[in-house]
Amino acid sequence: MNEEAGNRVSVTHEWWRTAVIYQVYPRSFADGNGDGVGDLAGIAARLPYLSALGVDAIWFSPWYPSPMADAGYDVADHRDIDPAFGTLAEAEELIARAHALEIRTIVDIVPNHCSDRHPWFLEAVAAGPGSAARELFWFRDGRGPDGELPPNNWQSIFGGPAWTRLPDGQWYLHLFAPEQPDLNWRNPKVREEFEDILRFWFERGVDGVRIDSAPVVAKDPTLADFDPAAPPSPHPYEDRDEVHDIYRAWRAVADSYPQRRALIGEVWLPDPARFARYLSPDELHTAFNFDFLGCAWDAVALRRCIDATLVTHAPVNAPATWVLANHDVTRTVTRYGRADTAFSHAARGMRHGSPSDLALGTRRARAAALLSLALPGSVYLYQGEELGLEEVEDIPDGLRQDPIFRRTKGADPGRDGCRVPLPWSGQGPPFGFSPDGAAGEPWLPQPAAWRDLTAEVQDGAPGSMLELYRAALRLRRQLSGPGDAELRWLDTDRDVLAFTRGDDVACVVNLSGGPTRLPEHRGVLLASGRLEGDLLPSDTAVWLRR
Ligand code: NOJ
Repeated sequence: MNEEAGNRVSVTHEWWRTAVIYQVYPRSFADGNGDGVGDLAGIAARLPYLSALGVDAIWFSPWYPSPMADAGYDVADHRDIDPAFGTLAEAEELIARAHALEIRTIVDIVPNHCSDRHPWFLEAVAAGPGSAARELFWFRDGRGPDGELPPNNWQSIFGGPAWTRLPDGQWYLHLFAPEQPDLNWRNPKVREEFEDILRFWFERGVDGVRIDSAPVVAKDPTLADFDPAAPPSPHPYEDRDEVHDIYRAWRAVADSYPQRRALIGEVWLPDPARFARYLSPDELHTAFNFDFLGCAWDAVALRRCIDATLVTHAPVNAPATWVLANHDVTRTVTRYGRADTAFSHAARGMRHGSPSDLALGTRRARAAALLSLALPGSVYLYQGEELGLEEVEDIPDGLRQDPIFRRTKGADPGRDGCRVPLPWSGQGPPFGFSPDGAAGEPWLPQPAAWRDLTAEVQDGAPGSMLELYRAALRLRRQLSGPGDAELRWLDTDRDVLAFTRGDDVACVVNLSGGPTRLPEHRGVLLASGRLEGDLLPSDTAVWLRR
C-alpha cells in the first residue's frame, strides 16, 4: 500500500490545530447507485463540492459493515466497508482522491462496543458460559433465584436496561442498544485488536481517527449497582482512570507514522480538568467541544464558554475545537429559532416540536458560523449546516430508525431529524441526493421546502448560507488571525461579543435585541447579514479589518 500516492497534503504542519473538518454522514450525504442510501460513489462525486467549499479535512462517520441497528455505530468489521456504501477499494480511492484535492481524511473508530453480528460476539454466543470467547465482552449470570434479573441496575444510554439475556440464561452488557455489546477492555486481545485496526487505516493513508464514546470504554470489574443521580467516584463506567492507558497506547501507534496522525476524542464530560486529561501531550490531540455545541444563544453564556474552553486547553497546549452540530444533535437553524436555544440530550424529547422561527434561527446560525470560524482552534462542520437545513421534526413514527426512539417508547424522538438526506438540486425529492430515475427513495423523507435550500439554488446566490460558508472558509485561510493567533476581548456591551485575532482581524457578534455600533475598523471583511451603515443589526456577526 503506497499511502503517499496522490497525497499532496503537507506533512509537517499540525493540521488538526486549525483545520475546518467537515463531517460526512455517509448514509445521508449523496447516493451514487440509486438505492436511496448514501454511499462512497456519491461522496466521490461530490468531492469537488467539498473542495470548493474549502474544508481541510473530512470525517467519515462509520462506513463499515454493519446491520445498522445504530446507523453504523454497531460495527461488524472495522476493516471493511458496508456493501451498501461500496468497497474497501473505493474507500482507498476516496482517501487518495481527497488527498489529491488537499483534503485530509478521518475515520470513525468505535471502541466501546461492536455489533452483535461481529464474529467475536457470534462466537461468544455460540461458545457458551465460561468460554474464553465470552471474556471479550461482559457476560454475567443474572440475579434472582433463576437469574431472571439483570446482573446490576445499569441503564442503557439509549433508554431501558443495559443488559440483555441470552437463551442460555447469561446476560451481556450494552451501554447503548442490545445490538451493541460492550467489549471488555481488560482483555489484552481487545487492546491488540484496536491497535491493529488503527494501523490498518493509517496504512491506508487516513490522517486521523475520531474516537467514539471515548470515556466509557473501561468498566468497574465488580459491576456494582449505583445510583445514577449520585454516582460513586470513580464512576463505574464513565471516565475511569484506566482509559488513559488505552489512549496513550493509541498515541504511540499514531506517532509511529512519519506523517502526523490525529486522535480526536468524543469526550462528553462536565469537569474541565477531567476533560483536559484526555488531551495530555501523550494522549489525544483534540476533543469535541460539546459545551459550545450545547450553549444557548446568549452572549454571556457563550463568552463564559469560550473563556472556559481556552483556559481548559491552554495548560495542555491542545487546540480548542468549535462544534455547533453533528449527527446526534438538533440542527442549529431549528435550535436557535426556539425560545430555548440550548441543546442537551436529556431535553431533546421535551424540546422536540416546540415552535421555532426558522428565519430567526437561520440568522443566528449564520452569525454562529462566523463566530465559530473566528475562534482560535479547529472547527467541525456537520454536513448540511452549510446549506442551512433545519431539523426535520415531522418524520412519521413508522419511518424513524434511531434506536433511541424505540427504546424510550417515543419520549425522545431520537436523531433522525438531523440525518435526512441532503438536497443537492432540483425541484422535488430526492433533490439530486439519488441520481435521476433512481429506484429507491431517500431512506428518510426530505421536506418539499428544501427546494429552496439545494446546493444548486444556493450556488453563486448572494446571501445564501452556502456562499457565506465558502467566503468564510476562504477568508479564514487567507487571514493571519483565525488559526492559532490569540483571542483578545474588546470592551463592549454585555450582549455583544467582540474580539480581535492577531493584529488585524476582529469579530463582532451582536446578540442584543437592537443594533450596535461597530468598533473602530478599516473595512468589513465579511458579514452574516446586511449592515446598516456603521450599525450591526441584532443576531448578526461581522469580521472586520482593523
Ligand atoms: C456516539 C455517536 O456519535 C452516536 O451516534 C452513537 O449512537 C453512540 N456514540 C454509540 O456508538
